[in-house]
Amino acid sequence: MQIEILTLFPQMFQSLLSGGVIKRALDREVVRINIRNIRDFTHNKHHTVDDSPYGGGAGMVLKPEPIFEAVEAVKLEIANENGADAVPVILLTPQGRFFSQQVALELSKYRHLIFICGHYEGVDERVCEHLVTDEISIGDYVLSGGELAAMVVVDGVVRLVPGALGSEDSTKDDSHATGLLEYPQYTRPPVYRGWAVPEVLLSGNHAQITKWHREQSIIRTLERRPDLLEKANLSSEERRFIDRSRQSR
Ligand code: ADE
Repeated sequence: MQIEILTLFPQMFQSLLSGGVIKRALDREVVRINIRNIRDFTHNKHHTVDDSPYGGGAGMVLKPEPIFEAVEAVKLEIANENGADAVPVILLTPQGRFFSQQVALELSKYRHLIFICGHYEGVDERVCEHLVTDEISIGDYVLSGGELAAMVVVDGVVRLVPGALGSEDSTKDDSHATGLLEYPQYTRPPVYRGWAVPEVLLSGNHAQITKWHREQSIIRTLERRPDLLEKANLSSEERRFIDRSRQSR
């Protein structure tokens, strides 16, 4: 996978690239990430990337020219190296569709992704209308730029690319991967300050452990995120279990 990030603040991405799962995926050449400075695609003397909004109002708006030129340059490079390929052009904006595990999975299937980090009061609407193919929000709050949102999305996506994590299995029980929250995890010591690890986990009985994991996932989701249960893939026995627990509360 090749990810292109267009930003006015390339240095913000140093920490993302220099550690953890992303660094490992880069080292293993599972993914390539190029950070491009939008300012490099300006032609005026002052490298201006923004201007005041038509019609007045507070703040500045990102000009269309450098963004169009940056995306077109990147697309041309991709086409020259790999041939024609429909590449999603994703704008990070609080007005986008919500990022979720489902969206992460969807994006993890592409060979190329282009992210545009918005700034200031926003981006000229012609960028959204004629260049961008997808707009993503990471939540109902306003960040001062799209960079942190892009990092969230890239981290969520890259860890799903086969080969990025140590074991292919590591993502399958993740919270949200199954439509449920993940069950609680324990490691050694078996008793810490008098608090014991649930006995079933030490039993070595894999069928029992799998059953316990599933139950705990359901209980946790019921307690913390009951809204998720509507869409979760549950057996009729599990649905009855949930109905009983709801009645006894
Ligand atoms: N840019 C500013 N706020 C954002 C948000 N909540 N999600 C994505 N991009 C953003």
